[in-house]
Amino acid sequence: MRKRMIAGNWKMNETYSEGVVLARGLAKELEAGTGDVDVVVCPPAVDLKGVSEVIEQESAPFALGAQNVYWEEKGAFTGETAPGMLTNIGATHCIIGHSERRGYFGETDEDINKKAKALMAHGIVPISCCGESLEVREAGMHVEFVVEQIKADTAGLTIDDPSRYVIAYEPIWAIGTGKTATADDAQEVCGAIRKTLAEVFGQETADGIRILYGGSAKPENVAGFLEKEDVDGALVGGASLKADSFAAMVKVVM
Ligand code: 13P
Repeated sequence: MRKRMIAGNWKMNETYSEGVVLARGLAKELEAGTGDVDVVVCPPAVDLKGVSEVIEQESAPFALGAQNVYWEEKGAFTGETAPGMLTNIGATHCIIGHSERRGYFGETDEDINKKAKALMAHGIVPISCCGESLEVREAGMHVEFVVEQIKADTAGLTIDDPSRYVIAYEPIWAIGTGKTATADDAQEVCGAIRKTLAEVFGQETADGIRILYGGSAKPENVAGFLEKEDVDGALVGGASLKADSFAAMVKVVM
């Protein structure tokens, strides 16, 4: 019922020119199509237009996502990007609430909630991230912690089409460390997320929302995560920076 999704978060990697080359490489790798998998590529803001052009020129089978957005429509917000600016250049998805933005840039659940509302008002699919630190995990509080994030991040949202709101569970201790959560660890939290979504939005909506796992996901381990009932895809950092490894992840779960 839920279509699988593999999303690549390039983070602050790839200049404009490098991003165009990477996107072209990915278009070539995936030229035979992506079956029943939604693929999304999320480059840095300055690369978005270039990657958008590649998608158009090559009829590439992947969607374009941003890594951040501001919730206001326009105005004196130096350095920020409005939702309408993203739709104008062809972005259809946007990551919000990544732990790096929460940690380095002080983003709060309230900010993330406002960003989700602004994106949805513009028809952009949020990929809303949550996840606990090592400290929280070691204290055995990870489920409670993530459930609270989900409640705060989704407060007051109207989700008419659950296929257009995506959550990514990314345990912070597994990001860029090579240390992955086990598939059972991911299922434990993703299952709790879905239960929380059912309490907030009703079971039918909860059953339609995709929950991705992120944190050192790679071609060798991605299938194991997706075997789990409540894991519907992956949000990939490092392994999305090489066209062949990212395409391999798509092919493994197609
Ligand atoms: P890595 O796949 O490099 O661990 O990054 C995960 C991530 O943060 C994706 O958003």
